[in-house]
Amino acid sequence: MAIAQPASRPANPRFSSGPCAKPPTFELSKLADAPLGRSHRAAVGKAKLKDAIEGTREVLGIPADYKIGIVPASDTGAVEMAMWSLLGERKVEMLAWESFGAGWVTDVVKQLKIDAEAKIADYGQIVDLASVDFANDVVFTWNGTTSGVRVPNGDWIADDREGLTICDATSAAFAMDLPWDKLDVTTFSWQKVLGGEAAHGVIVLSPRAVARLESYTPAWPLPKIFRMTKGGKLIEGIFTGATINTPSMLAVEDYLFALDWARSVGGLEGLIARANANAQAVFDFCEANDWIANLAEDDATRSNTSVCLKFTDDRIQDGAAFAKAVAKRLEAENIALDIGAYRDAPAGLRIWCGGTVETADIEAMLPWLAWAFDAEIEAQA
Ligand SMILES: Cc1ncc(COP(=O)(O)O)c(C=O)c1O
Repeated sequence: MAIAQPASRPANPRFSSGPCAKPPTFELSKLADAPLGRSHRAAVGKAKLKDAIEGTREVLGIPADYKIGIVPASDTGAVEMAMWSLLGERKVEMLAWESFGAGWVTDVVKQLKIDAEAKIADYGQIVDLASVDFANDVVFTWNGTTSGVRVPNGDWIADDREGLTICDATSAAFAMDLPWDKLDVTTFSWQKVLGGEAAHGVIVLSPRAVARLESYTPAWPLPKIFRMTKGGKLIEGIFTGATINTPSMLAVEDYLFALDWARSVGGLEGLIARANANAQAVFDFCEANDWIANLAEDDATRSNTSVCLKFTDDRIQDGAAFAKAVAKRLEAENIALDIGAYRDAPAGLRIWCGGTVETADIEAMLPWLAWAFDAEIEAQA
């Protein structure tokens, strides 16, 4: 007989991996100070954009000599801008272990047609980081959002590298320690760990990345929204809030709110602790139940944000249909929304554990996962 429905429910069923849950204290009324209907180039708009940049530096601990820009087209825009502006000067190594990283490989190999070596691992695994040659430029994703596999740390990145490191950190920033001295270009978007709004990306440049921008011109044309230099010099305004094109001041206000919330939970350290506690609750659940497991094969690479799970029970007949049905049951009960695995990933579930999610909600949701699993095994029979 199927197990009974658990008595308690998560207060917030939002476990999507992007856009992610808003900070627990969020209300629309908290964005009332947004300078809507005003020019983003007016003093009030410029001040908000500068606050967003300097607040990012403060909360993430980004060095004073790194440049931070708010750019169009979310994280994708920031990554494309970096790749199109910087690559081609030397050989490139592309590292990928899930679908977004694989997308960057396609762009570099098929669109930019650069001399690149692609190192690709299956879902659940990671490439051999020790094999990377830092004479090359290296493009990688800190946390593979669709496989739940992350790099364990930055120790594998050479301090005396000749090439640049370009890191898509969109599901890592604000949840994992990013060693800035190892990262020449880092990108993320607001809609991920801080539960902000989509639309804008953030690009962080080390002094070495700026030096490359100022000394190298790619062979291909660059659209206006990718251009960070003029006459061989960095356009400094982009990195002080004079954005390339018009940003959403509502999204900016929302991000400023999210940064304030981040400070209120202890800043980066507090955010990392919250994500770790959330992920640990899911890891413990997997440990206690032999029908479910983390997709990440090596514990050192398990994500603490996009935790990806696979069902391992022999009784399951059609893995993809089963996982979808479990996710559907949880959605129908308003227990967990948007937790199906990413469309290109192996069948399973993905539970967002970033800091805007409350551990109590993860803990209230997990017994329901056991309930849905059991109900689906029974339905299948
Ligand atoms: C690793 C990674 N890169 C890029 C993206 C694309 O981000 P955006 O939609 O903000 O451009 C995502 C979105 O989930 C992601 O997880």
